[in-house]
Amino acid sequence: MYRYFAFSLSGSRCSLLVWSLVGCLLILHLYTFVHDKDVQNQENHMRISHHSQFRELEEVEEEDIQIPPPRGKRSPRAAKRRPRKPHTSLIDEFLDESSQIRRIFFPDLETAMDPMKDAGNDTPYYYPGRIWLDIEGNPIQAHGGGILYDEITKTYYWYGEFKDGPTYHAHKRGAARVDVIGVGCYSSKDMWTWKNEGIVLAAEEKNETHDLHKLNVLERPKVIYNDKTGKYVMWMHIDDANYTKASVGVAISDSPTGSFHYLYSKRPHGFDSRDMTIFKDDDGVAYILYSSEDNSELHVGTLNEDYLDMTNNMNRILVGQHREAPALFKHRGTYYMITSGCTGWAPNEALTHAAESVMGPWETIGNPCIGGNKIFRLTTFFSQGTFVLPLPGLPGSFIFMADRWNPADLRDSRYVWLPLTVGGPVDQPLEYNFGFPLWSRVSIYWHKKWRLPYSWRDKD
Ligand code: DGJ
Repeated sequence: MYRYFAFSLSGSRCSLLVWSLVGCLLILHLYTFVHDKDVQNQENHMRISHHSQFRELEEVEEEDIQIPPPRGKRSPRAAKRRPRKPHTSLIDEFLDESSQIRRIFFPDLETAMDPMKDAGNDTPYYYPGRIWLDIEGNPIQAHGGGILYDEITKTYYWYGEFKDGPTYHAHKRGAARVDVIGVGCYSSKDMWTWKNEGIVLAAEEKNETHDLHKLNVLERPKVIYNDKTGKYVMWMHIDDANYTKASVGVAISDSPTGSFHYLYSKRPHGFDSRDMTIFKDDDGVAYILYSSEDNSELHVGTLNEDYLDMTNNMNRILVGQHREAPALFKHRGTYYMITSGCTGWAPNEALTHAAESVMGPWETIGNPCIGGNKIFRLTTFFSQGTFVLPLPGLPGSFIFMADRWNPADLRDSRYVWLPLTVGGPVDQPLEYNFGFPLWSRVSIYWHKKWRLPYSWRDKD
């Protein structure tokens, strides 16, 4: 009797506990739901008020490219560049510098985006793949780049590989390369008209043991500003011509236009590191992400407070997925990343990954590319991502920055900038977590030409 009483008493306590827990969870869920709805409503409101402009960005534009009839053998270099994947016919044309349809992918100088020529006629259109001239009329040299918006000067700075030299092969089987010249920097208020600020980190001509010696490799430079030290910090991929050094390098400057002082290189956390990026979060914490273990996985770690080194905190992510060219961004507390596959200079399929913390775990949610045609979507529109830039004042809208590499003449590689939006549910079922969290769909829209929404262009 006593035992039964004790049992039922502890039983009722237990059910009380369970019900209170259920209650708390319900309240929490309701709060999150209402809060999320609020934020979503605000965003929807903004979107509706800019409706037609967004419609322009999210238009699905198709491409109908006729592949010319076969004409015997391809150049041996073009055959080598070909990735071992299906659907290569258009990719073959793309990689063949003597293809009859070469101009579709690499239009001539006459079609260049020239802000000086087009100034005043209110048509700052981006034409992905066309040559892009700076305000002095020279093709912009900022490959594998990234953009820093500097709050102090209220200016955008675009940093990238300055590759204005001849392309050659260091070895018979080596990848196409250009000697290191340095990191180019361009400034702009409108992200269309760019002024060349010069080489802000220059190659070393004589000292062969220096990381920046011209016969080495300097790729994918990215710059962030440290609010505590007031310094601009650049991180980059440093390598030798055979890509065996596999390190990251760090440089520092008092001003966004340099010149940057090179500090050192190292193998992050003791691991090989090739394509990489850095990301500064809203709370000032900065992260480094790099392809490692022979590109089979990515590593993510936090930088120190001064951003000049990394902490020991490191996680392995996307293990076994063989991804590179990471470009990270954040929307409504969720982190997203676009990566490419690993096929040298040849284009391949992009994938989006999402996470609740930069440190992971990261989940792969699919190919973000929309429009063009199937091969466009399977090749990231014949390009490879390098950076994703948020459009201030337009939550959920970003610019996806990519490089259309030209391995036959790397200096003539083009820029493919396209609108990227985050919104709507995923288009593929999730693998785990009982379908929770529900990542938003990330979309990159193909356009032959496009422009920023009016509200953004006319903001100043
Ligand atoms: C792909 C990388 O993303 C580029 O930055 C460059 O390293 C090439 N490979 C070299 O083949």
